[in-house]
Amino acid sequence: MQKYRVADLGKYVGQEVELKGWLYNKRDIGKVRFILVRDGSGIVQGVMVKNNLPEEVWDKFDDLTLETSLIVRGTVREEKRAPGGYELDVTDIEIFQIADGYPITKKSHGVEFLMDHRHLWLRSKKQWAIMRIRDEIQSAIMDFLREQGFVRIDAPILTSSAAEGTTTLFEVDYHGDKAYLSQSGQLYMEAAAMAHGKVYCFGPAFRAEKSKTRRHLLEFWMVEPEMAWVTFEENLEIQENMVSYIVERVLKNRRNELEILERPIEPLEKVKPPFPRVTYDEAIEMLKKSGDPELEKIEWGEDFGAPHETYISNKFDKPVFITHFPTKMKAFYMQPDPNRPEVVLAADLLAPEGYGEIIGGSERIYDYDLLKQRIQEWGLPEEDYQWYLDLRKYGTVPHSGFGLGLERTVAWIAKLPHIRETIPFPRMLHRMVP
Ligand code: 4AD
Ligand code: MG
Repeated sequence: MQKYRVADLGKYVGQEVELKGWLYNKRDIGKVRFILVRDGSGIVQGVMVKNNLPEEVWDKFDDLTLETSLIVRGTVREEKRAPGGYELDVTDIEIFQIADGYPITKKSHGVEFLMDHRHLWLRSKKQWAIMRIRDEIQSAIMDFLREQGFVRIDAPILTSSAAEGTTTLFEVDYHGDKAYLSQSGQLYMEAAAMAHGKVYCFGPAFRAEKSKTRRHLLEFWMVEPEMAWVTFEENLEIQENMVSYIVERVLKNRRNELEILERPIEPLEKVKPPFPRVTYDEAIEMLKKSGDPELEKIEWGEDFGAPHETYISNKFDKPVFITHFPTKMKAFYMQPDPNRPEVVLAADLLAPEGYGEIIGGSERIYDYDLLKQRIQEWGLPEEDYQWYLDLRKYGTVPHSGFGLGLERTVAWIAKLPHIRETIPFPRMLHRMVP
């Protein structure tokens, strides 16, 4: 175990510490040599002064290749100019393993090469910062929901039916029967909400996406809150509060990581409730008047592509809800607007800065007959949904929920060009290794 960590060096100024880690970089300027040591919690610069060191310690510098594992001892000194604010005056170095020629060097590499070496790339500073932002977002979500009285309920991964359309199902052989990797835990959360009132699941979801985009993974993580007796508008309020809380937490606890990624802070500081709400009809109007012939081609009833989402979200400096989508376009379980059944009480939340949809949510159909009719209209096998229909038979209530995609949220908050860097080991079209 490590007793001392780079992140805690501030507590040990003037004291001798022992750090266990890896060599991140080194620099030789003659009678002084610098080693950058990372230990997982951060990176510190160790200063080696020839006149202060036994020769055998001084010479070890020559053996240190990138990513060599080592134990380094030294005295902590405050150094305002150093990242993190501290440096180590090295007194001793113990090498654990001299690393073979490390494939990721300080020169720039192509993305495919880096993805092939994802198991090592995770050690690089920017990747390290991204994973720590991801971790903070996950913690913030769980803290927020717990604070609001939600109970975490785990949904199964092997499922018997489709939750989000049949075109993106991963099929699995279930001892001779067909099973599918879960596209969403929602249907199970609806059952659990009738037991606990407010629930959520947080786990992997699978979509056999056939397209290669910077927003799609085949395996991604989704948090799915579901609430009994909660209607459409209240559902939006919970979403804007949750997203604002997530951003606030990252700004508070992951400043250093945002700086490493050179992520501008000002756009994030504007993320406070309430978020603007635009109906699908209004969004179509906006696109029709955009002046861009490609965008103007869209017709009522058609889904938005990435360029449409980007155009609309660029009109606002906060995340924006698009509400009341055409019924035909959306999932079978969505509650129609009582005043206008051709649209549903559903909303997508679009992130600013062109990141597109991060949340999909809706009020759910609570009426048994209507839900049964929809299952038939959508051509879904009714036997598979019998248990789901049961929920409408035994004390049905209005209820709503949503799903927030973790990786798209990380991509936006960290301002990354592509979703592949938001998850430790991405599964994409043509990529399953490592
Ligand atoms: O809009 P979606 O498909 O909604 C659902 O799955 C609902 N059952 C959620 C619910 O109401 N409980 O997906 C929700 C979110 C999207 O907004 C997006 O952020 C993310 O999940 N998502 C993906 N992220 C990465 N790669 C993919 N292929 C994704 N598909 C959806
Ligand atoms: Mg969606």
